[in-house]
Amino acid sequence: MSVVSDQVLQYPFVHDDGLEVDRRYAEMQTRGPVRVQMAYGGPAWLATRYADVRTIYSDRRFSRVLPAGTEASNAFRGASLVEPTFPLGMDPPQHTRLRRITAPVFSPRQIRTLTDDVQALVDERLDEMVEQGPGADFHTVVSWELPIAVLVGILGIPRPEAPMFREWVRTSSEPIGPAEPRLEAYGHMRAYVASLIALRRAEHHDDLLGLLVDARDEGDRLTEEELFGLTLSLVAGGFHTTTMQLSNTVVALMTHRERWQELLDGRAELGPALEELWRWIPSFHYGSPMTRWAREDVELSGGVVVRAGEAVLPEQAVANRDEAAFPNGWEIDFHRVDPPPHLALGFGEHLCMGLHLAKLQLELTVRTLLRRFPTLELAVPADQISWPVHGFLRSPDAVPLTW
Ligand code: HEM
Repeated sequence: MSVVSDQVLQYPFVHDDGLEVDRRYAEMQTRGPVRVQMAYGGPAWLATRYADVRTIYSDRRFSRVLPAGTEASNAFRGASLVEPTFPLGMDPPQHTRLRRITAPVFSPRQIRTLTDDVQALVDERLDEMVEQGPGADFHTVVSWELPIAVLVGILGIPRPEAPMFREWVRTSSEPIGPAEPRLEAYGHMRAYVASLIALRRAEHHDDLLGLLVDARDEGDRLTEEELFGLTLSLVAGGFHTTTMQLSNTVVALMTHRERWQELLDGRAELGPALEELWRWIPSFHYGSPMTRWAREDVELSGGVVVRAGEAVLPEQAVANRDEAAFPNGWEIDFHRVDPPPHLALGFGEHLCMGLHLAKLQLELTVRTLLRRFPTLELAVPADQISWPVHGFLRSPDAVPLTW
């Protein structure tokens, strides 16, 4: 079936399958954006080309703020749970100011100071994998535990409270099912985050949350509301995403054995290899909530004009495979020469705030796996790994490993 037509397509029109991106998207990329009808809200433009998605992320004629009186266009019911105090729900100049004040706290240098702590957690998790022996589930033992432990560490949450906190995050970000449990968990999380901030206002703490409370830019500092919205965003954006990326990265390497071998033999460098995996791995299910709205008429490729007020959905996982930007983009290639920036962590103003933290966890985990488990492989055939289709993020249910 061809997905390219002049009609409005019901979105999503393809089905996810593991880490595959539907090849019909390649055909769609030969044209500009297409018109789609989302499951919730009105129609939207769907952009799949690298150049278009990059423009949508970085051109100020596109806004992150839902125009008044408009219903958000979403593939999932809960996808619009972006509050106006979240950085993702802001536009310049408010957003620019917030990013300027907080930049030092998320800088590569600041995040590197966490290296020893994160490495200790990686070692602890991999010791546990050894303890469980071949057949251990990397997803449960490492991916579910490491990012939450890192997150509670930077927010100064006592570790025994981490499972409770994780449960609130998990339940509140579940995009399907009844609304009540989601809202209840979200309420708990809000109250807890407010208490963490109040504690740091009362006395100085050296954790990342303490740094945010103290963050200033020439006398300018975050308001109470901004601090609250930002902390909630870190919680919502900082744990699940990294969990999924850890498992997806291991599955990608185990199912592309020659790439793992290149790393083991030193024929490929880990830094560029991980960047390539960020590009290639489709982190989000179709319908990721990255929608923008045009402030004025904007022309995208193929002569498509997005009219003022219309919604645009950037399909970044597809854009990341665009052969016009990444020759042979459907393949994993650790030796690309000066590739353009991938869009897996966004681009432009809203580029992921936690990217250095996420990258640190990925780097230390893969480096330690290479060192400690060179014979690592999946303990089951790849086609026996199951991939739940609900939720924003793609991820396997379990990743049993042997070595
Ligand atoms: C696998 C890991 C991650 C992925 C795939 C990811 C993905 C993204 C993407 C695509 C955006 C841009 C969204 C848009 O422009 O509409 C974003 C923004 C953001 N991310 Fe991440 N992220 C990850 C990890 C993290 C971590 C670890 C944190 C924090 C601890 C974090 C916090 C944020 C925040 C606060 C924003 C909003 C930035 C802004 O609006 O200025 N993310 N992330």
